[in-house]
Amino acid sequence: MAANPAPAAAPVKPAFPEFLPFSRPTISPEAMAEVQSCLASGWITTGPRVKKFEEMLRAYCGAPHALTVTSATAGLFLVLQAMKLKPGDEVITTPMTFAATLNMIVLTGGRPVLVDADRRTYQMDPAAVARAVTPRTRAIMPVHFAGMPVDLDPIYEVAKRHGLRVVEDAAHAIGTEYKGRKIGSFGDVQVMSFHPNKNITTGEGGAVICRDDALASEVQILRFHGMDREAWARFGRTGSQHYEIIAPGHKFNMMDMQAALGIHQLPALDGFIARRTALVARYRAALAGWKELILPGDPSYPHRHAWHLFAPLVNTGAGTHLTRDGFMAALKERNVGTGLHYRAAHLYPYYREHYGWKPGDFPNTEFIADRIVSLPLFPLLTDAQQDGVIAAMRDVFDHA
Ligand SMILES: Cc1ncc(COP(=O)(O)O)c(C=O)c1O
Repeated sequence: MAANPAPAAAPVKPAFPEFLPFSRPTISPEAMAEVQSCLASGWITTGPRVKKFEEMLRAYCGAPHALTVTSATAGLFLVLQAMKLKPGDEVITTPMTFAATLNMIVLTGGRPVLVDADRRTYQMDPAAVARAVTPRTRAIMPVHFAGMPVDLDPIYEVAKRHGLRVVEDAAHAIGTEYKGRKIGSFGDVQVMSFHPNKNITTGEGGAVICRDDALASEVQILRFHGMDREAWARFGRTGSQHYEIIAPGHKFNMMDMQAALGIHQLPALDGFIARRTALVARYRAALAGWKELILPGDPSYPHRHAWHLFAPLVNTGAGTHLTRDGFMAALKERNVGTGLHYRAAHLYPYYREHYGWKPGDFPNTEFIADRIVSLPLFPLLTDAQQDGVIAAMRDVFDHA
């Protein structure tokens, strides 16, 4: 007798007719017109729009120096290069970050020393930072993960005690506040990202924010070939065509075409954060009590979260048989995009091979990184779309 065929799986019902990305930038008609004016102006590389955007960044952050660059990666490189690390010099950071944080330490000659993250907030643990300091430590690089501020006071206290520089990886943190103060308005140096997924964008781009005149001057020189003055200052009516090379520098200058976006993005930032915050409140209300998810915890200190990411953990094992990757794949089948920010940086092949890191070294980071998933979150996401995402998530947990 022929066996009964297995019942066909119910077809997956897409939540949206077209794929919904986890992030997309909001580019206003004014910003588009500004890019066109820039193109028509005859000056499309670093020039008056970059100068204006930098002035606006200084005013927004409340900092004397804001130097635009091609990316946060480039900004981190310049800041660390300006520190002139010697072989064996250590920089303390977290494996709960994007690879660029560690990569830039290595590329500027330093040795990354890692401390684990807090399982509830995903942030670098300041007590572990204090324990990781050695006579070779030169700097601490906290990461304001997802737009939540790291607990900076104890980190700056350790830095002060040992004479270390704090390089804040603020790629996620424009608009973030710590104890009533904007990230960028105090401390040593902050490096921000304007990648299209970030809270404001210039296409690609970033900025170094600082209060130290000498550091700002080094970054300014190194970002453009090591020249003692910038091109726009040479080609104008009043500039001299001569320059000197006073250090071997890079080509990390932002273009006016990019700044044309930035000067319209920045005034919209607080509105973007307000919308992101409202969407997160809706996610929290809808997802509270789901056994399949662990929602991110709030820190105990006063803060404003910029909500670059809303990234709960898939409660694999305890709450669902689904893995995070299985969950992401099932949502993708339903036309819902998600993001993975990030895998544990110490477990990438380069870092295993060169630093000997292995599974189990940073258990909280590994717990988070194995489960974390960034849900769709961007200012243009409508309530109805968000409801569709939540319904698709429920469908995945119930049927996938
Ligand atoms: C924590 C962190 N640091 C640095 C970067 C690098 O930023 P960029 O893409 O602007 O180079 C990123 C990018 O996602 C990041 O998430």
